[in-house]
Amino acid sequence: MKKSFLKPQNTIFIFDSGLGGITIYNYIKNIFFNINFIYLLDNKYFPYGNKSKNFIFQRLIKILKKISYHYNISLAIIACNTASVSSLPKIRNYFTFPIIGVNPVINLAIKKTQNNVIGLLATNTTLRNDKIQKTIHFFKKKYEIKTISSSKLVLLAEKKILGYDIIINEIKKIFKPWYALKVFPDTIVLGCTHFPLILNELKIILPQKICFLDSKKNIILTFKKNMNYNSNILSRKKNIVFYTKKNKYIKKIKNLFFKKNFTVFSNFIL
Ligand code: DGL
Repeated sequence: MKKSFLKPQNTIFIFDSGLGGITIYNYIKNIFFNINFIYLLDNKYFPYGNKSKNFIFQRLIKILKKISYHYNISLAIIACNTASVSSLPKIRNYFTFPIIGVNPVINLAIKKTQNNVIGLLATNTTLRNDKIQKTIHFFKKKYEIKTISSSKLVLLAEKKILGYDIIINEIKKIFKPWYALKVFPDTIVLGCTHFPLILNELKIILPQKICFLDSKKNIILTFKKNMNYNSNILSRKKNIVFYTKKNKYIKKIKNLFFKKNFTVFSNFIL
């Protein structure tokens, strides 16, 4: 990726289909404290998990074009594995600001596993992605990579962060195929930014001593490599949330973001 210098506004754009990108925001907000954040959730098309690669790519182009027309974006973070694998690196050709994303950390899991059985939880679109398939194939001889894709799990995570009770048995049912395995994965890749939101539930229903890996740490490394951060520039912070559809959850979504230092909440019509 090209090296880019920060524009005066210090604005970081975070994108997800829904609320999973909050797991990335939570992680970076304290590292780069003097930065404006814009978070956009494309709830009009949530979930992305079964959408085609091309649909997601075109949608992201539209969103990034409109957002960068109105705001001076210093860095865009695609805080969604499904959208990242569907659009990166190609999407970088359309914009001058740096764009980074998240990917299931299969390579890291290979380093960590002791029993050579790895679990990969991701959406259908992520699992079907050529690059992900190639990676799985590459390690096939030595490692077993067991996969589960479930939109239901994404929806449950979204409900949980909005304060709804989620039924643990519903999660258990999703993992039914794994309970029959002779050797259970000792390392599980959370290949969707929604899944860290239900980490406690996963720990309850899965055997103990599993190492769970998500993409958060990678993002910081990529972040630092690609940004020249000027901590003195900003005098007034204004974090904005955009949603793409008004629905019955909108009030709860607003409250959630306001608790996280966002002060503007608005419909992004596209
Ligand atoms: N948070 C998204 C991801 O990391 C996906 C959820 C979805 O919209 O299906 O893949």
